[in-house]
Amino acid sequence: MAKVLIATEKPFAPAAVQSIREIVENAGFELALLEKYTDKAQLFEAVKDADALIVRSDKITAEVVEQTQNLKIVVRAGAGYDNLDLEALTAKGVVAMNTPGQNSNAVAELALGMMVSIARNNYAGTSGSELKGKSLGIHAYGYVGKGVATIAKGFGMKVYAYDPFIDKSIMINDGVEVVDSVEELYSKCRYISLHIPANEHTKESINYNLLMSMPKGATLVNTARKEVIHEDDMLRVLSEREDFRYASDIAPDNKEIIANKFEGRFFFTPKKMGAQTSEANINAGIAAANQIVAFIKEGDRTFQVNK
Ligand code: 3PG
Repeated sequence: MAKVLIATEKPFAPAAVQSIREIVENAGFELALLEKYTDKAQLFEAVKDADALIVRSDKITAEVVEQTQNLKIVVRAGAGYDNLDLEALTAKGVVAMNTPGQNSNAVAELALGMMVSIARNNYAGTSGSELKGKSLGIHAYGYVGKGVATIAKGFGMKVYAYDPFIDKSIMINDGVEVVDSVEELYSKCRYISLHIPANEHTKESINYNLLMSMPKGATLVNTARKEVIHEDDMLRVLSEREDFRYASDIAPDNKEIIANKFEGRFFFTPKKMGAQTSEANINAGIAAANQIVAFIKEGDRTFQVNK
């Protein structure tokens, strides 16, 4: 009997686990659960006899892959798969997949929520500003970027987007103004919402020049990955521009310095919260379970990311 392991340091909502269990058991497989683990030794032990693995941002390193004896597939229940060592998985013949779009609404809602929070001075009782009429630049127009555009238009924001990998007509049909370079996006928009993945091309790519080019009252909202920000540059920008604010779904490594020096000009979640809703957990969890069953039973490789 194939064994499917859910290994989530940050657990799914119970209803999501229940839905996954039903799909896995109806397929005749066994479900094992490792939640809120605090030590990688627990993960090492749990993956040993698993045939399939469902994870979130859990780091599946070469060391973890080495412990597995039966593993055939790992599904990252979510969009970004920078937590998976694809090289190690491929070398061991393990298929890696993600579940694109399944948790995107939750992340899009949080991006707007963080914009409101920071525009209202984190509800400190002082007079803030409104989003209506302000320019918003969406940096990468995947599922989350598209969701942010839809909600932001409801707020009355003027929405721009840059994404060289997406057909312009998709953005134009959504009523979004397409710009031709990342520099143009940042120089036009008072708010920027980041939706790029973290990879060798994007890490630390959000740098001093881009941030300094933003108009007065600039706010960067990051629900992507902290690694895409050049943290030293961000510090420099915050010290040189009193009008600059930074909201991030997960605190940067230098959060203490920012908290000490720039009170009221940042908002950080202590744990990544973008996809932490029961709806997102259920959607991504069900997709992951269905993808595993389809792969093991029919060899279906849709959504494979390590081709
Ligand atoms: C994603 O890439 O899908 C999001 O960042 C959510 O990550 P999480 O599942 O760790 O909350």
